[in-house]
Amino acid sequence: MTVVLALETSCDETAVALVDGRRVLASVVASQVASHAPYGGVVPELAARRHVELLPHLVDQAFAEAGIGWAEVNAVAATATPGLVGALLVGLTTGKTMALLHGKTFLAVHHLEGHLCSAQLTGGPPPETPFLVLLVSGGHTQLVRVDGPGVYRICGATVDDAAGEAFDKVARLLGLGYPGGPAIEAVAGSGQPRRFAFPQGRVRRRGGGYEPYAFSFSGLKTAVLRCIEALQRQGEPLPVADLAASFEDTVATVLSRRSVGCALDQGLSRLVVVGGVAANRRLRQTLEQRCREEKIDLVMAPLAFCGDNAAMIGVAASQRLASGCQSPWTIGVSPRLPLHEAGSLYHPQPPF
Ligand code: KG4
Ligand code: ZN
Repeated sequence: MTVVLALETSCDETAVALVDGRRVLASVVASQVASHAPYGGVVPELAARRHVELLPHLVDQAFAEAGIGWAEVNAVAATATPGLVGALLVGLTTGKTMALLHGKTFLAVHHLEGHLCSAQLTGGPPPETPFLVLLVSGGHTQLVRVDGPGVYRICGATVDDAAGEAFDKVARLLGLGYPGGPAIEAVAGSGQPRRFAFPQGRVRRRGGGYEPYAFSFSGLKTAVLRCIEALQRQGEPLPVADLAASFEDTVATVLSRRSVGCALDQGLSRLVVVGGVAANRRLRQTLEQRCREEKIDLVMAPLAFCGDNAAMIGVAASQRLASGCQSPWTIGVSPRLPLHEAGSLYHPQPPF
């Protein structure tokens, strides 16, 4: 048994987990949505302060849920990048302090490597490399080729907004509140997804043609805004459900088409889908259908582990630990670090 206590505080969820390899012994998440909702988005300073208040309780809760104590813990892990600097500092400093106090190994974790590892929490066998990952969250939208543990190559990414950010912005335009993803999904269920045709955000390549695996969601958001303005000029009540369904369908179609196309071009027969937006049912259904048609194995993170959580951070740390890594005590936080540089958080740098 190699138990890792993991902390996740990169944005507005405070999360603690205890994992033994890929086995989740406890996973607790305290959402700060209510604290940020009056402001219509995450307030970084407020997020950091809430993490300070919530973390000690969540650590106690995780130990109680797992029914173990510090004696059984081998290592402590915390998210170090990417994210809100103040929020990350709370988790990283708390994690380091607890590791020092209790004489445990410390591992800093790349948040996106954590999301990738959430696909190992299905209860089934872990996806075999090589595979393509569609990572869709509030801050990122990327297609990542994974050739082995820690060996990543970005095949495509958004050139402007992330998919989750688009959900949040469009929800605000429709007066649906924050966070936008679940709010849009709830009303879209009773709407007509084909009522409005929105642009698919193709990205022009310099010298002509289009980038096949790039995403752009800011034009889609503007198209929804123009559509709302035109409808308002006509003085009709806004067809919120149809607008939400048409927007959601456009995002699901674009994400599914480009990820399946990329997997096929890369000669990969496995697609892994992770991140907060991966919880969206229309996206899951669209992906299932396209992957069935193209005979691609589809592995989606379980709903409970799509959004930010600490179990995924624990799994990522367990894998790094198993390959002999630990982080130096001097490790700091960073608002940005490309995924393929995640190995730089460890010493010795993993050979893989
Ligand atoms: O992965 P995540 O929890 O945090 C980041 O690392 O960003 O993703 C949060 C994002 C938010 O933008 C939220 O609106 C979106 O995921 N989201 C959804 C759904 N649930 C959360 N988007 C669409 N449909 C959902 N059901
Ligand atoms: Zn995330």
